[in-house]
Amino acid sequence: MTKIAIIIGSTRPGRNGEAVARWVHDIATKRQDAEFELVDLKDFGLPPLDEVMPAAMGQYSHPHTRAWAETIDSFDGYVFVTPEYNHSTSGALKNAIDFLYAEWNNKAAGFVSYGSAGGTRAVEHLRLVMGELQVADVRAQVALSLFTDFEHFSVLNPAAHQEDTVTAMLDQVVAWGEALQPLRR
Ligand SMILES: Cc1cc2nc3c(=O)[nH]c(=O)nc-3n(C[C@H](O)[C@H](O)[C@H](O)COP(=O)(O)O)c2cc1C
Repeated sequence: MTKIAIIIGSTRPGRNGEAVARWVHDIATKRQDAEFELVDLKDFGLPPLDEVMPAAMGQYSHPHTRAWAETIDSFDGYVFVTPEYNHSTSGALKNAIDFLYAEWNNKAAGFVSYGSAGGTRAVEHLRLVMGELQVADVRAQVALSLFTDFEHFSVLNPAAHQEDTVTAMLDQVVAWGEALQPLRR
């Protein structure tokens, strides 16, 4: 069965990201075509990148890197749930991405972003990063506005159409995650 990780891309106390990721997970688990798992960056306690060798060498020296690598390696695709910080993704998510290389290769990815402009600028940056990691990022994306999909900028209450947007994004991530399987063998 195709396995997709829903990655919580913010680690801040009081983060909106966790509620967003849980909402996506609730929608995803109604599906029968793949398994979906929440992956919380907070659980991995990754420090600022502290590996001597570049990730592409695959020589991980720290237990925290190996634990993160094992988790990411076990999935066929990812949904990155990202905030927008200063017109980009979070430092925590970029750092976690930078720790690994081969584990990301030939996988699929979709994005759920949130911010005052839907977090779309964070996703544009992430799409450039995905290219370097040989991740196939799908077109459909979910952009939640802090003004219309949250109450008081902090309580998630997505507009009715957003569930369909999540479904469209997941359709593409599952399809591409499966289609790329021959390259991962
Ligand atoms: C350091 C920082 C920078 C931010 N920069 C932006 C920004 O450039 N554009 C934007 O729309 N929102 C920005 N915001 C608002 C966040 O998108 C919003 O607070 C969101 O809830 C943050 O995600 P989190 O709650 O999961 O940490 C910023 C927030 C923080 C903490």
